[in-house]
Amino acid sequence: MKRSIAVLTGAGVSAESGLGTYRDNGGLWDNYDPMEVASAEGWRRNPKLVLNFYNMQRAHLREVQPNEAHRIIAELERDFDVDVITQNVDNLHERAGSTRVLHLHGEVTKVRPENCCNDMDGFSERTVFDVGYGEVHLGDKAPNGAQLRPHIVFFGEAVPKLEAAVERVARADIVLIVGTSLQVYPAASLYRYARPDAPIYLIDPAEIRLHDPRVQHIRMVATEGMREFVLQIKK
Ligand code: APR
Repeated sequence: MKRSIAVLTGAGVSAESGLGTYRDNGGLWDNYDPMEVASAEGWRRNPKLVLNFYNMQRAHLREVQPNEAHRIIAELERDFDVDVITQNVDNLHERAGSTRVLHLHGEVTKVRPENCCNDMDGFSERTVFDVGYGEVHLGDKAPNGAQLRPHIVFFGEAVPKLEAAVERVARADIVLIVGTSLQVYPAASLYRYARPDAPIYLIDPAEIRLHDPRVQHIRMVATEGMREFVLQIKK
């Protein structure tokens, strides 16, 4: 029986691939107002701005590759039962080979009709489809006639996969957090569902104060931290 690991990742795991984080110096939110380009209100106010923002994200994602941290996380599946639970909307975990990836905040390569996948239809993903790295413009309609929108959880919207994420963390033998400032809820509180006997590792170069005695901070960038993590859990 393989030990299970829940890997909670944020933008920091993709930083060494060349994708920007959100809140570091020069991060995305230094250059764009999330309330304009990544919120439900922003979508209602100016959908063109939102569509352009995610068109740019897709174009950038096409140019980058998974890094060593993504690859080591994927390789953990050889010896462990791994669930990746990511706040990232990029596809780098999948491209590195991870087979069980739960995107809490959606996926930038996917779109859907703007009137679907909400509390009215039980957040059904039936009408979600993959546009790869292509563009979506105002006037691009779904088969049901509605405007297409990014399959992203905007600020101000529910996080439909939260319950599934909690279940995975609550059953894990080991919890690993990589590259998130833990400032956006409810994702930030997920690690707290770890079992009392489950060690929690945090990989991040910044000083993140988590007042939980179970947390072991590997203060390194993701690629180095993942190598250190593997050494530690194989002891
Ligand atoms: N390796 C590991 N961690 C890194 C690296 C690196 N090379 N570079 C930066 N980091 C860390 C930073 O120290 C920070 O703690 O990654 C974290 C990035 O934090 P944020 O930019 O806030 O990104 P994240 O926590 O993923 O944001 C959460 O906010 O805007 C929303 O939906 C968006 O999913 C996103 C959510």
